[in-house]
Amino acid sequence: MITDVNPFVYSRPLAPDDIIDRDEETHRLLAAAVGGHYVRLYAPRKYGKTSLLGRVLRDGERQEGMIPVLVDLYGVLSIADVAIRFERAYARQLKGRTRARIEEFLQSTGLGLSLGALGIGARLQLEPRADPLPALHTLLDLPLRLEEGGSFRALIVLDEFQDITKVKDMDALLRSHIQFQGEVASFVFAGSEPGLMRELFEDRERPLYGQAVPMRLERLGDADIAAYVAERFRSTGRSAGEAVNPLLAAAQGHPQRTMLLAHRLWELVPPGATATLSHWASAHAGALGELQPEFDANWRRLSTNEQKALRAVVAGDGSPYRRPVLEQLDAPKSSIRAALSQLLARALVEQRGEEYVLVDPLFAEWVRGLRGTGDATS
Ligand SMILES: Nc1ncnc2c1ncn2[C@@H]1O[C@H](COP(=O)(O)OP(=O)(O)OP(=O)(O)O)[C@@H](O)[C@H]1O
Ligand SMILES: [Mg+2]
Repeated sequence: MITDVNPFVYSRPLAPDDIIDRDEETHRLLAAAVGGHYVRLYAPRKYGKTSLLGRVLRDGERQEGMIPVLVDLYGVLSIADVAIRFERAYARQLKGRTRARIEEFLQSTGLGLSLGALGIGARLQLEPRADPLPALHTLLDLPLRLEEGGSFRALIVLDEFQDITKVKDMDALLRSHIQFQGEVASFVFAGSEPGLMRELFEDRERPLYGQAVPMRLERLGDADIAAYVAERFRSTGRSAGEAVNPLLAAAQGHPQRTMLLAHRLWELVPPGATATLSHWASAHAGALGELQPEFDANWRRLSTNEQKALRAVVAGDGSPYRRPVLEQLDAPKSSIRAALSQLLARALVEQRGEEYVLVDPLFAEWVRGLRGTGDATS
């Protein structure tokens, strides 16, 4: 049996007890939920939204007696998709008497809804022409039914919320239900595309305008990361040694990149040994190698002006509008500005005060390296 297991997970949401810090964020989200306030949580990809929400749902259930429901809306394209996601979320998460009561109710609607293995998805497969809308209405009203059982508040997290923009009028439909649920349910809308999230909640013409308090998830603090990395090396019979500082510098507080680098470093350090700078150099190079295809694909998806804007941010050390930088890239300031606003809306770039930075510090290194390889404009 393998017992010497790498303690750094970078490819899936973390279990609540494995996450670094986020105490304050957990507390704020819980306080809002208990108070019946809706929150929209925004962060770039891989900043730990789902991991944090998992912890909030766990604590909400344990400490506040709330009924936790996590609905993942990643990739939904239709009303049917949304209905299936909501139904499966309840199917996974309702327990005990509440579950039995809700199941009985769902069966009684005759809409094909069920918390069992064969729910609305199966019905829609057998009868592709069936209208999924009544089923979705029923599911969106479930918080009112949950409450009938014993007045627990439901905590409903809609993850990857920006994807509802792919389903016509979904925000209006959602609003028509949740606006009557303030007493029985609290909602968290989590998303990674700041442009789309803003459009959904900050455009006066949109149904969800002003419906949720914004909250941004930030990078992790170096001190928190250092303590975590050192402790996990120690508890697995190793020492992180002098590799910790270069790791912090390379990861820049980016949660997933931090864990990826720590994972790679740990792999190279034998049991009982201490990490050296040479271990670090190999781990770092290995991580960049692993990411090469991803970076290449991301790069090719960008317009030429966006590519130039990224190069300008990197070459200008955060100040993309410096004249020598613009001249070298043969790019007028106006086109860089327009491209940057696109990149900000998609959270590839973020602003820190006056400066711009690439969200992903390893992608920034890769972009910097393009200069030497000469295929920057390919
Ligand atoms: N608080 C944290 N402490 C340690 N690692 C973290 C933390 N948050 C995120 N991570 C790292 O980032 C990875 C991705 O986390 P998670 O899936 O929660 O992010 P996400 O923002 O939901 O990502 P996505 O945009 O893909 O939905 C985790 O596997 C973990 O390595
Ligand atoms: Mg996620």
